[in-house]
Amino acid sequence: MSVFLATHERTHSCGALRASDAGKRVVLTGWVQNYRDHGERIFIDLRDREGVTQIVADRERIAAIHAVADQFRNEWCIGIVGEVKLRGQQLAKGVPGEERKLKAMTNTKIQTGEVEVWIDEVEVFSKADTPPFAIEDDVDTNDSVRLKYRYLDLRRPRLQRNLVMRSQITRTTRDYLACTGFLEIETPFMVKYTPGGARNFLVPSRLNPGNFYALAESPQIFKQLLMVAGYDRYFQIVRCFRDEDLRNERQPEFTQIDIEMSFVNEKILQTTMEGLMAKLWKDVLGIELTLPLRRMTFAEAMDKYGVDKPDLRLDLILTDVTEGFKGSGIKFIDDAIAAGGIVKALRIPKNEKFTRALIDELPNFGKQYGLKGVTTVRLQEGGVWQGLKGVPDEARAAITAKVGAQVGDAIVFVADKWKVANTALGGIRLHLGDKLGLIRKNEWQFMWLTDPPLFEVDEGEIAAAHHPFTSPRTEDEDMLETAPEKVLARAYDLVLNGVEVGGGSIRIHRSDLQARAFKALRISDENQRAKFGFLLDAFKFGPPPHGGIAFGLDRLAMLMTGAEYMRDVIAFPKTQKGSDLMTDCPTPVSAKQLDELFIQVKPDLPVK
Ligand code: AMO
Repeated sequence: MSVFLATHERTHSCGALRASDAGKRVVLTGWVQNYRDHGERIFIDLRDREGVTQIVADRERIAAIHAVADQFRNEWCIGIVGEVKLRGQQLAKGVPGEERKLKAMTNTKIQTGEVEVWIDEVEVFSKADTPPFAIEDDVDTNDSVRLKYRYLDLRRPRLQRNLVMRSQITRTTRDYLACTGFLEIETPFMVKYTPGGARNFLVPSRLNPGNFYALAESPQIFKQLLMVAGYDRYFQIVRCFRDEDLRNERQPEFTQIDIEMSFVNEKILQTTMEGLMAKLWKDVLGIELTLPLRRMTFAEAMDKYGVDKPDLRLDLILTDVTEGFKGSGIKFIDDAIAAGGIVKALRIPKNEKFTRALIDELPNFGKQYGLKGVTTVRLQEGGVWQGLKGVPDEARAAITAKVGAQVGDAIVFVADKWKVANTALGGIRLHLGDKLGLIRKNEWQFMWLTDPPLFEVDEGEIAAAHHPFTSPRTEDEDMLETAPEKVLARAYDLVLNGVEVGGGSIRIHRSDLQARAFKALRISDENQRAKFGFLLDAFKFGPPPHGGIAFGLDRLAMLMTGAEYMRDVIAFPKTQKGSDLMTDCPTPVSAKQLDELFIQVKPDLPVK
């Protein structure tokens, strides 16, 4: 054991000392952030996860310590005992020139900037090789190098701040839920494979050769069974696994704040969850949220914003102008309308940044959504459009009025099938909002998205939009067999600044209704029994009405910390290809391991 630690215990973190601590004898531990050799004195920035403190090795004070400090290199791990002094204490007080120097010596960039610690004892716990990149924020280092040396990357102040905040988020969540009567209960990760929802990772069972567990994509079925079992108000901060194509907002393993409640309706559940958000924002960010949060139906969100997760920090709104364009004689519009499509418009209030170049780029931008074209006009004096010829005067005036455009404004039009037109113009809305600087970055715009469709119907295929246990609206139940595409769900998402941070629903709790929902999903009786028999059985034993929600903790943490990437709030994240570059995983396994599992890997593996 280190001699130092046998006799000393840390008294302060490296972010703690203030002017009022001057004169104290303190013990600090940490890493050498950098050092400046001024001959007689060596100044070292000592860093731990709480901050940085300047420590001083003074030859005159103790020559042997100065000699040790002379050897220090970045990232050495050390412990010191020393005396806290106001910076520049050695300068003569009251002498104008010296006072100025004193002020200049205070480092206002760090919390401990008024003081420094003069070293009286030191121990080098361990030395460090030269790190592959500087341990500082905003260093321009290749991402894969940072991920390979993640433990060094994690020493950077910003990541440390993010993980500290993430820890505060989980602590506050637990406090709030415990105080509102929730029980924390764990559910299995290795579960039965059930179809639908995200693709599962599979785990072979050695004890049951040829059989596989699935890694739980969420505790959904188990939390519902806990309600049947009478454990009302369950929560779990739980890892979920999904073998999806990865994007910035998605990780193959991510964390949910998972919740289920019995004997509730949407209002009770949402109010309880709003309380959680308010407490998080207050305790972690010091911000008061105004409750209740705004609510918007799926239909309104799609109509006005083109997405089911509108970013309300941006005021631009979409308008349906199909009526105005009917019979306009403009080919791409007429074709779209004839094929049952719609025409949508986006008004861009007069804005100098909306340049020709940006306008010319839009058709190309629209291609990613499958759009064949994007047309932009500018409104001139006398109601004239600059850009789209041939629209009759009356129609032009009606469209301009409907969109609410003024002279100098621009209007962006798209024409396509309902979904493509909305999604594409919704994408263009965000793109232009960003390019034109119209998104208000300092706002927290929450909203509940309500009444989404129960099913996704696409070219004859039908799937559960949320999951198959979501209750239809009572008034829509009769359409389950006749017009499933029209049935709306008792489901809701919590959206924050254009990101879906949570989603849930009131569940079906009657086995007859569940069977009808399965039938609408074209899951045969036989398959229902094989896949979900245990749930249907459970529902025969007095299931309570229940509902729940799950929040994406990583997404919440990303937004609350202001992190640009989700991996910046996860200690050991995976890359877009699902790899961990630090441990180098996934990897092939030995033939012996495969033998034990009765698994054979095909020889012609695709090259990725
Ligand atoms: P859902 O699938 O909507 O619902 O997930 C809930 C929330 O989890 C987050 N999330 C993700 N975060 C990071 N990476 C991912 N790959 C990822 N996938 C989802 C999102 C999302 O809103 N069992 C239901 C919840 C319920 O009905 O109670 C469920 O899992 O923020």
